[in-house]
Amino acid sequence: MSENHSLNILVIGSGGREHALVQACLQSPLAGKVIAAPGNGGMASEVECFNTAVEDVPGIVQLAQAESIGLVIVGPEVPLSLGLVDALQAAGIPAYGPCQAGAQLESSKAFCKDFFARHNIPTAAYANFTEVAPALEYLESHPAPIVIKASGLAAGKGVIMAETQEEAIAAVKDMLEGGAFGQSGAEIVIEETLYGEEASIHAIVSGDNFVCLPPSQDHKRVGEGDTGLNTGGMGAYTPTSKVNAALQAQIEEMVIRPTLEGFKKDGIDFRGTLYAGLMLTEAGPKVLEYNVRFGDPETQVLLPMVADDLVPVLLASAKGEALPQQLAFHPGAAIVVVLAAGGYPGSYAKGEVIRFPESLPPRTSIVHAGTKRSDDGTITTNGGRVLGVSAQAPSLEEAKDLAYTVCDQIHFDSKYLRRDIGHRELNRGSN
Ligand code: AMP
Ligand code: GLY
Repeated sequence: MSENHSLNILVIGSGGREHALVQACLQSPLAGKVIAAPGNGGMASEVECFNTAVEDVPGIVQLAQAESIGLVIVGPEVPLSLGLVDALQAAGIPAYGPCQAGAQLESSKAFCKDFFARHNIPTAAYANFTEVAPALEYLESHPAPIVIKASGLAAGKGVIMAETQEEAIAAVKDMLEGGAFGQSGAEIVIEETLYGEEASIHAIVSGDNFVCLPPSQDHKRVGEGDTGLNTGGMGAYTPTSKVNAALQAQIEEMVIRPTLEGFKKDGIDFRGTLYAGLMLTEAGPKVLEYNVRFGDPETQVLLPMVADDLVPVLLASAKGEALPQQLAFHPGAAIVVVLAAGGYPGSYAKGEVIRFPESLPPRTSIVHAGTKRSDDGTITTNGGRVLGVSAQAPSLEEAKDLAYTVCDQIHFDSKYLRRDIGHRELNRGSN
C-alpha cells in the first residue's frame, strides 16, 4: 500500500498516554511526520507541538488539513465526546477513536447502563434518575452500601461509594439539587456495590472486528496500600494473573462481543478503543464502566508490549477496515510508576525544574505527562501527574526494580511516588 509509506500522524492530547502514543508512532516504518497538539515537554523534545486545545474541534481539523495529516489519533475522551472524529471524517481525514454517538458510552454513564441492559452485558444492578424524590424512594428499597454516580464526564471524581444511608441520600441531593459536578450530575446512576478485584481490558475495535491488548491493572488511589483519594492513576502493570486465558476468552465472549453486536443493533459504527473497567466478582466478570480511549497510565505499559507495528492497526480501525485477528506481544511484564507533584490530587506546585538521569537502562523509558519545555530545553513540572517511568522485563519483579531505579534518578522538589506499584500481583507469588 504505497499510499501509506509516508503517513503523517497527529496525536491529540497532552498526557503520558499521548507521549506513549507519539513514541509508538515514531517507531513505525509507515510514519512520515509525527506531530502533537497541544503536547507536553516530553513530546516537544521529540516532535513538533502545536498550541491547539483538545476542545478546539475546528482548530484541530484546520491543523490536520494544513499539515497534510493522514491519521489523527485522539487521546482523551473530551474531544471524542465533542464529535472531533465526526468532524475529521467529514473532512476526509482518518481519525482513530469513536464518533460522538460511540463516545456516549463513556460520556454518559446512564446511556452506558441502558446499553448494558438492552444488550445483556453483565453489570451491577442499577437505575437512572434526574429527580430527587424517585431516587430517594429507590434508596429505601436498595439501602447502603450503594454507589451513586454522576452520569456525565467528571474526570474520575463523580463516583460516591456510600457506606451509609445518610451518605447515599446526601450524594443524591448534592448531585441533583446542589449542582455538584454541574451538568454532569444532572442525571445520576444508582447502582449495586460489587466486590472483587478490578482489571482492565483494552480492545482496538473496527466495527465487527476487535483485537485485545493484554489485561492490565492500575492503582487509582494516591496512597500506598491503595488508600487515600482517587487520582487519574498512580501506576499500572501488565499482564495480570487474575485474568488467565480462560477468563480472557470469557470476557471477550460475554462482554466485548455483545458490546460490538449492541453497537450494530443501535446503528453505531464503533471504531477506536473500547476499554472495559471490570470487577472480577464471584459471579463472574461485570463491567463497571466503559472508556472509549486508551487508559492513562495503562497505555504506557501496554504499547511497549506490542511487538507488531501499531500504526497500521490504528489506521485500519480509523478507516473501518478489517483488523488483524491477533497482535504479537513481547513476553514478560511491564510496569509504569507515576511521579506526581506533592499535593496531587489536591493543589500542587508547578514550574519546578526536573533533573533527569544522563542515560537509561535498556527497556525503560520516561514518559512525560504534566511537563513543559522552555526554549533553552529546560523541563519543568506543569501538572499533577508529572512523569511516568515504564520498564519491561521477563518478570514483574524485575520490571519493578528497573523502574524504581530510574525513578530514584529523577529529581524535582515536590516529587511524590508510590513505592508499591504492582503489589497485588507481586504478593500473589506468581512471579
Ligand atoms: P467508574 O468511573 O464507574 O469506573 O468508577 C470509578 C471507580 O469506582 C471504579 O474503578 C471502582 O473502583 C469504583 N466503583 C464504581 N462502581 C462500583 C460498583 N458498582 N461497585 C464497587 N466499586 C465501584
Ligand atoms: N487509568 C484510568 C483511566 O485512564 O481512566
